[in-house]
Amino acid sequence: MRTFPAISLPRALLVATIVATFTAACGTATAQDFPPDVIKGKAVYERHCLACHGPGGWGDGPDAAALRVPPANFHRFQSFLKSDEELLRTIEHGVVFSPMHSWQGQLTETERQDALAYIRLLVQQGQ
Ligand code: HEC
Repeated sequence: MRTFPAISLPRALLVATIVATFTAACGTATAQDFPPDVIKGKAVYERHCLACHGPGGWGDGPDAAALRVPPANFHRFQSFLKSDEELLRTIEHGVVFSPMHSWQGQLTETERQDALAYIRLLVQQGQ
């Protein structure tokens, strides 16, 4: 008969507890675990997006007039009916042949989500 290394029940429980605690401590929280922060989003927006998209998100920022491809007006149906995923993808990767470049290297995923939350708030306020 094969013998298994003797491990008592209390010791097995102790090991299980240590493993569980370790896993919980190391489990990195992803950005999606928290609701986006519109206050931080406002700061990101004002710093990086307002010049083109405008203070109210109407696509009328100070730099907009000089652009050949106009910045998106977030109040238009074609913009605000898009899903968060779709808009986040645009913020992440940019739009080809437009001044809307990728923000992947400049903003973290959380900052991009916060900025989008602020854009959604602007649209709500403008209704
Ligand atoms: C240099 C000007 C410029 C800046 C700065 C800029 N954008 Fe844009 N953005 C554009 C343009 C132009 C488009 C529209 C491209 C098109 O017509 O498809 C656009 C499109 C978008 C869209 C897609 C809208 C839709 O309906 O699909 C989102 C979302 C967006 N921008 C978010 C942002 C965010 C967030 C920032 C700041 C981090 C930002 N933009 C900064 C010019 C800019």
